[in-house]
Amino acid sequence: MSLDIVILAAGQGTRMRSALPKVLHPVAGNSMLGHVIHSARQLQPQGIHVVIGHGAELVRERLAAADLNFVMQDKQLGTGHAVAQALPAITADTVLVLYGDVPLIEVQTLQRLLAKVSDKQLGLLTVTLQDPTGYGRIVRDAEGQVTAIVEHKDASEAQKAIKEGNTGILAMPAARLADWMGRLSNNNAQGEYYLTDVIAMAVADGLVVATEQPHDPMEVQGANDRRQLSELERHYQLREGRRLMAQGVTLRDPARFDVRGEVSVGRDVLIDINVILEGKVVIEDDVQIGPNCVIKDSTLRKGAIIKANTHLEGAVMGEGSDAGPFARLRPGSVLEAKAHVGNFVELKNAHLGEGAKAGHLTYLGDAEIGARTNIGAGTITCNYDGANKFKTVMGEDVFIGSNNSLVAPVEIKAGATTAAGSTITQAVEAGDLAVARARQRNISGWKRPEKIKKS
Ligand code: UD1
Ligand code: CA
Repeated sequence: MSLDIVILAAGQGTRMRSALPKVLHPVAGNSMLGHVIHSARQLQPQGIHVVIGHGAELVRERLAAADLNFVMQDKQLGTGHAVAQALPAITADTVLVLYGDVPLIEVQTLQRLLAKVSDKQLGLLTVTLQDPTGYGRIVRDAEGQVTAIVEHKDASEAQKAIKEGNTGILAMPAARLADWMGRLSNNNAQGEYYLTDVIAMAVADGLVVATEQPHDPMEVQGANDRRQLSELERHYQLREGRRLMAQGVTLRDPARFDVRGEVSVGRDVLIDINVILEGKVVIEDDVQIGPNCVIKDSTLRKGAIIKANTHLEGAVMGEGSDAGPFARLRPGSVLEAKAHVGNFVELKNAHLGEGAKAGHLTYLGDAEIGARTNIGAGTITCNYDGANKFKTVMGEDVFIGSNNSLVAPVEIKAGATTAAGSTITQAVEAGDLAVARARQRNISGWKRPEKIKKS
């Protein structure tokens, strides 16, 4: 079976009350349309055709990719009209229709639906709802065979009582599509070309309409306003949370956990509340993440510990290393095994060797730091002269006293020591002590200034 996928994404989404086209509103850090495209790709179709209209230029710009064919629908004349716009590009034998504002659809559900399609059969995804108001209703005959879909606004009272609704997601043999599209009319309550009318046409042509249901109704829930968007968001997060728990992660509270990207996890990982994982995050066995941490595009090796309120972006934490509370590891931060970064420490493009330590109130930028080196509290690398960045290099077993300014480019060789309060501007040779501060001078009998009395 070869497959073409058509994603409907031309609608306006007035109820979002937004300058942003509806399908670009995010769920879990990715646009709704982005999620649908992601699912579509997993079905390995020969074509993905995205029908765009409202905000078309922005949608195209944000999502452009070599495997996507954007199809313009200038006027939104209905779902049938939308699919018809993609028709000239369809070459596969099966066509699957998805919606750009229905982001949680699962690949397995679509696979089950596609399994129903043959040249004699359509696959229709339906959902049974307590209150199907607004949905097209699935009309069945005495034998239970689907005969038509009737839109809510066109439905009789008896049809409105039907609880089985049309999700809109539909898979059909492509050979018939051009004929059906050509026969659509807009002679209905909304004056639109309804895609749903193909169901009755297919039945009249002797095809069978086979139905499937999603395991979870939220899979087929669209977002028309921001309240629904927030429901989709939370549902997505709970689903991600459950997936991670199934793999051996303890989440202190799945309701206070957010993933905005792709996360892989090991076993016996502990994640406290209000943790946000963004981009590509790799978490190995026995990692512990404290509350209120934001971790983006980072790798946490076995047994790494991240304490409360720590931010990581583009960082690697080695085995058994730890950071925080209140640490910030910016892109290019690498902690080797057992390295330690404490509170109010900022790292950028800094490499801490095995067992190296920066415990307190420190900025290390563009720095190469040897194993077991200890950086005193309040130390900063002066890596930027206002125009260029320079590197600070420290060997193994260096001891940097508290409150040092290390003016780069500078090298402090293995085993060297710098005195507290030093401003280091020159290389320090291996094993040497550098003292680079003004000598203390005591003035005895000092009188403090007194307040001048106003007359
Ligand atoms: C549609 C179905 C209805 C189903 C419901 C599920 C039809 C006629 N009706 O109704 O049976 O129960 O979805 O939510 O198909 N779109 C375009 N171009 C258009 C019109 C729509 O791209 O000209 C897109 C919209 O952006 C949206 C989707 O198609 O993503 C559905 O359109 P919408 O107008 O919301 O259809 P409904 O009236 O909800
Ligand atoms: Ca809708």
